[in-house]
Amino acid sequence: MSEGKGPVTLKIILIGNSGVGKSSFMNRYVNHRFTSMYRATIGTDFFSKTVSVDGESVTLQIWDTAGTERFQSLGTPLYRGAHCCMLVFDVTSKASFLALEGWKKEFLIQGEAEDPSHFPFIVLGNKTDLNDREVSRRTALQWCEDIGAEYFEGSAKDDIDVEKPFLRAAHSALQQY
Ligand code: GTP
Repeated sequence: MSEGKGPVTLKIILIGNSGVGKSSFMNRYVNHRFTSMYRATIGTDFFSKTVSVDGESVTLQIWDTAGTERFQSLGTPLYRGAHCCMLVFDVTSKASFLALEGWKKEFLIQGEAEDPSHFPFIVLGNKTDLNDREVSRRTALQWCEDIGAEYFEGSAKDDIDVEKPFLRAAHSALQQY
């Protein structure tokens, strides 16, 4: 960690299949808003938010990437320099959960992480407000244990446990800085 060099900016990337709620989760966290209207992310959006982590004021630069394959080639430069990556899935879609392995690999290759085996990943299960769950908390926790990632779940819609994963990501990112 570098200290005393002015404000710290931490780059956090959200990746995962289209429609899992990456934009919604970020929007809920940064702007305290939610819309049920779906608008595909084109390329990327990024938002900044200043938070206090371990007593230090840091700026989170949160990058919301497109889950649509059409725009995935944009991933390459975006992933570089990231301090933490959030792998997002929809708890009502097993396919979106199974896809995370591929997203993680892709991130490590394209992001050219210096130390891939220790790069911090946070796994986030969204849409816990829905009843038709296809991925149990237990299944998700098991996979996270296997890959050494931390697991969080919540709902952007109902504003459940939205802050925790970001604060944890900020903490991990700061250690990576
Ligand atoms: P791409 O931009 O295509 O990668 O999608 P995305 O992952 O950013 O998903 P987005 O945030 O656009 O959400 C997709 C749809 O899921 C929208 O209709 C949202 O309103 C809905 N959605 C997002 N979060 C939740 C949630 O927590 N619960 C429910 N029920 N719906 C949600």
